Amino acid sequence: MSAILHPSDLTPSHIADLHHRAQAVAQNAYAPYSNFRVGAALLLTDGHIVTGCNVENASYRLTTCAEQAAIAAAVALHGPSLRILAIVVANRNATASQPCGACRQTIHEFSTPDTRIFFPAEDGTLTEATIADLLPAAFLLKTEK
Ligand code: THU
Repeated sequence: MSAILHPSDLTPSHIADLHHRAQAVAQNAYAPYSNFRVGAALLLTDGHIVTGCNVENASYRLTTCAEQAAIAAAVALHGPSLRILAIVVANRNATASQPCGACRQTIHEFSTPDTRIFFPAEDGTLTEATIADLLPAAFLLKTEK
């Protein structure tokens, strides 16, 4: 897993594999309140794949989205300098679902302008976007050093 992957290395079979993994992990979602079960699969630039699903809470605002769960797991497993080559989001509800605003900001933190982001369209196909498409004015923290 040492070679760094570039966006041009991403093949349709990578995307299909990530989609399959996102659909599979969505089965583990804890979503008793919305019944909306979401999965996300990340391919990191170092070749690792990490998945996550949404985990809801009776105090609704404490819910963790699938994208955020996958990114938190990836940081825990592979460290803070990881970069996402591609992310595929899926749900078990056969409907369109775009990454929410909070997830866009979280994805931005670990993306590059070339990161490829896929999410379900209404017709079951995947829509592709860049993080700049999804979040053109991400919050950036400028701190005094
Ligand atoms: N959800 C995600 O996991 N990802 C998103 O980007 C959108 C929403 C989850 C949160 C909640 O558990 C359920 O979908 C309904 O909003």
